[in-house]
Amino acid sequence: MPADQTPSRDDIAAIIADHRGMEGPLLPILHAIQHAFGHVPQAALPLIAEALNISRAEVHGVMSFYHDFREAPAGRRVVKLCRAEACQAVGGAAVAAEVLADLGLNWQETTPDGAVTVEAVYCLGLCACGPAAVIGDRVHGRISAARMRALLAEATP
Ligand code: FES
Repeated sequence: MPADQTPSRDDIAAIIADHRGMEGPLLPILHAIQHAFGHVPQAALPLIAEALNISRAEVHGVMSFYHDFREAPAGRRVVKLCRAEACQAVGGAAVAAEVLADLGLNWQETTPDGAVTVEAVYCLGLCACGPAAVIGDRVHGRISAARMRALLAEATP
């Protein structure tokens, strides 16, 4: 199923059924749903909670803790900006603030035209070359707001 289609209750229930017998099934279920649909829709939360006999708040709490999970489909390009310590120490927060302001977004949001989603990431293993970011599959070091503008202009269809 393409990631921009709304998954049906049956689609979600089938994935839950496939994983609920695992030890510690919550993360595998969330990963499988996100892999299948590109995000974890709100409609999945009560189904997961019921299947695992936990509260919706617990499911939501785990989703919020692990920043990889999305509640809505991503844009055509996903930009991940590193918010971990080494990148913050070399200006990452200021770069991120400028990038978000340029795009008119908050963290985890997508531009209205569906072109770009900006997400936080916590260390890309490029700490010596911070601030670091990923655009699509490519990792970039020593980013600045100006460089991000140029890279995004290249990468955004
Ligand atoms: S802290 Fe940003 S890449 Fe490691």
